[in-house]
Amino acid sequence: MRNLVINASKKGAIINKNIYGHFSEHLGRCIYGGLFVGEDSKIPNINGMRTDIVTALKNIAVPVLRWPGGCFADEYHWKDGVGARETRKRMVNTHWGGVIEDNSFGTHEFLEFCRQVGCEPYINGNLGSGTVQEMSEWVEYMTFGGVSPMAEMRVRNGKKDPWNIKYFAVGNENWGCGGNMRPEYYADEYRRYQTYLRNYGDNKIYKIACGANTADYNWTEVLMKNAGQYMDGLSLHYYTVTGDNWDKKGSATGFSETDYYKTLRKAYYIEELVENHSRIMDLYDKEKHVGLIVDEWGTWHDVEPETNPGFLYQQNTMRDAIAAGLTLNIFNKHADRVTMANLAQMINVMQAVILTEGEKLVLTPTYHVFDLYKHHQDATLIDSFVEAAYLADSNIPDLQISASEDKTGVIHATLVNLSATDSQKINLICNENKAISGRILSGEITDYNDFSDANKLAVKPYKSFNKAENGVTFDIPACAVLEISLS
Ligand code: AHR
Repeated sequence: MRNLVINASKKGAIINKNIYGHFSEHLGRCIYGGLFVGEDSKIPNINGMRTDIVTALKNIAVPVLRWPGGCFADEYHWKDGVGARETRKRMVNTHWGGVIEDNSFGTHEFLEFCRQVGCEPYINGNLGSGTVQEMSEWVEYMTFGGVSPMAEMRVRNGKKDPWNIKYFAVGNENWGCGGNMRPEYYADEYRRYQTYLRNYGDNKIYKIACGANTADYNWTEVLMKNAGQYMDGLSLHYYTVTGDNWDKKGSATGFSETDYYKTLRKAYYIEELVENHSRIMDLYDKEKHVGLIVDEWGTWHDVEPETNPGFLYQQNTMRDAIAAGLTLNIFNKHADRVTMANLAQMINVMQAVILTEGEKLVLTPTYHVFDLYKHHQDATLIDSFVEAAYLADSNIPDLQISASEDKTGVIHATLVNLSATDSQKINLICNENKAISGRILSGEITDYNDFSDANKLAVKPYKSFNKAENGVTFDIPACAVLEISLS
C-alpha cells in the first residue's frame, strides 16, 4: 500500500491555464485538412473551420494557441496571408515537405479559429528572415484602432475593430532554423525588434524571447543577462525522442517495454531542464517577472509508414498519454516559473491531440489526458506527495502526482502510474473531509485509437474508492492516468 497525501492548507502558485496550451504550425495536415477546410468543403465548418475540431477543443478548454510556427514562422511573411484569398501569394513550404503553401489560412483565419475555440492567440513573429518594420507592422495591423496604413489595410480586409493580441514571440529557434545565431547576437536582435512592438490603446503585448534548445544553459544565461529586462517570457524547447538519433527515433506504435521506459525516462528529463533553466533565470529575475514558456514539447517518433516524411504524422499510444501526464504534473509543480506550455502539435502532427482522415476524427490518448487535467487551469497548486518506488534501472518514481484547488474549493489531483505491468494500492490521506470521485484513462502501453476503433481508449468514471480507517483506499491500474476530485 502506498500513501498519497494531499495537504490543502499548503498552497503554492496559481497554475497558469496557459500551461495547457497548444501549437499549430503550417506543417503537414495541422492547418490544412486539420483545423481548416475552407468554406466550400463538404466537411461541416463555420467560416472554414471544422466544427468537430472546434467542439473537441472546447471540451478540453484550450486556453492558448501558438501559430504560425515553429521553423515556418521565420520564413512567414504575414502580408502574403491577408486580403482576397485568390490573390494571395503561393509559395513553397521549404521546411515541411516542399508542398505549395497558398496562404489561404492567414492572420484573419487564425484569429477567427481562436475566436471559435475561445482561446488566446499566441503569434510567433519572423526575426530570422523578416524585418523589424514587418514585425512592427503586423502588431499595428492587428491591434491599432486608429488611423494608420496598417489599420486601414485591416479595415479594407474586412475587420473594422482591432483584435486584442497579448502573446507575441520574437523569432523561433533562432539558434537553429531561425537564423543559426549565437546567443549574444540574438539577444541584441531581440532588443531591437521588441522595441517596435508597440502597445496600442489598451492592448499590451507580452513579449516572448526565443529561449534555449534543451540543455543549452548558456543561451538562457546570455539572454537573461543581456535582454532579460526587455522580455516578459523566455521560451524553452524540448522533445522526447526515444531513439538515440534523429534518423531512428523509433516507431510510434511498435515498441517494447524497454522502449516504453526509455521514452518515460526521456520525458521525465524535462523536470531537470525546467529546474536548471529556472535557477539561471532566478539569478537575474528573483521576482519571477519573466515566465518560462515551454512553447514546444512532446514526443517525437518516426512518421507513420507511407506518409510524407516532411509531414511528421505519428500515431499516439498510452505511452504518449503517460508521458503527457507526467510532464503536465511537472509543469504544475513549477507553476511559479512555468507560465505557458504548448504541446507540439495540435492536429495530425507529432504528439497530436486529434488525428483526422477526411471527415473522420480520432481523439488520441493524449487528448484524454488534457481532458483529465483541465481542472488544474488557473487553480491554486497545493501540496501533494505519493510514496513511489523507482522504475527499473532508473531514477524515475513509478507514481507521480500534482494537486490543485479550484476557485470553488474543489480539489483535483492527477495521479499517473507509469508502470507497464503493476497496479498499485493507494491510501489517500487528505486534511479535508470531502466527497471523492474519479475519472480514469488506462490501457496497455501500445494501445491507441484509430479510425477503425476510435473509442478503444476513453476517459471513464472511476468509482472504486473504499473508506478506510485512515483515509480512502483504491487501486490504480498499470499504465493509467487518474483524476481524483474532492468536493
Ligand atoms: O515542431 C516541429 C519543429 O520542431 C518546429 O518547427 C521547430 O521549432 C522545432 O524544431
